[in-house]
Amino acid sequence: MSNSTEAELLHMFKGIPFTTRSSPELLKSLDAFDAREDDVLLVSYPKSGTHWLAGVITKLYDTQVTITSPIEFGDISKLEELNNLSSKRIIPTHLDYNMLPQNFKNKKCKMIYISRNPKDTAVSMYHYYRDNPNLPTVDTWTAFFDLFLKGNVVCGSWFDHFLSWEQHEDDKNILFLFYEDMKKDLPKVVKEIALFLSLNVSDKDIQDVCNKSSFSEMKNDTEKENSDPSHTVCALTSNRKLIFRKGAVGDWKNHFTPKQNRRFEEIFNEKMKLSKM
Ligand code: A3P
Repeated sequence: MSNSTEAELLHMFKGIPFTTRSSPELLKSLDAFDAREDDVLLVSYPKSGTHWLAGVITKLYDTQVTITSPIEFGDISKLEELNNLSSKRIIPTHLDYNMLPQNFKNKKCKMIYISRNPKDTAVSMYHYYRDNPNLPTVDTWTAFFDLFLKGNVVCGSWFDHFLSWEQHEDDKNILFLFYEDMKKDLPKVVKEIALFLSLNVSDKDIQDVCNKSSFSEMKNDTEKENSDPSHTVCALTSNRKLIFRKGAVGDWKNHFTPKQNRRFEEIFNEKMKLSKM
């Protein structure tokens, strides 16, 4: 990574770069976290559509649920804050599978993992790095491209993150979703989510949820809000206005040079050779 403020913004934990918004004390104590059987985890590598998925899920429930801030965001008081919540908890996280508190695994909590074409994820993350004061400065797309491929970005390597979760793809308590499928046929994916969460929702409700979760609706809602600064599901910012940029599939084509594309594909094929993706 490339500049002098980086040390103030990032720290390494178990070989993965975290922002200083995730305190080392909190990260160390996560293993002691007390999960509840009815917790739902919303898991992603950054910039994969986490807010979109969170928007859909909250609209699906007609009982009281709380979307918490990400489990790895904050200081040690975070654990108590989550313990004190009396309502059902939907807990977002960018942690890889190995770092996830053991208790969620033992209790077989439901987990939804959303993934996105890593080329589009890289482009989205590049813009996020540029706009987000909590992340180090990157000067050019070329520089960021190299950092991304080396896994030298916040939350580490996209490949390692994806592979750590993909190994658990067949676990009954984990639902795998793709951003591109949501773009292609949102009602179908929303039905799948409702079924997975055992929620009884009509086709009309599904259509309603989809209408309210379109990119333009969600972006407008955010712009109208009287800035609730704690209202993101990303440990890297509290500013929702940084989230809704373009919301498109294939923006990578506007950024990757043919040479970068070839290099990406080579590394993708090598790293993902055991993946079903
Ligand atoms: P872009 O930067 O490519 O526009 P996350 O929520 O994990 O941080 O992901 C953010 C990405 O999801 C951004 O991608 C954002 O625009 C996109 N996104 C957010 N809401 C969306 C929606 N309702 N429909 C489509 N894309 C959405």
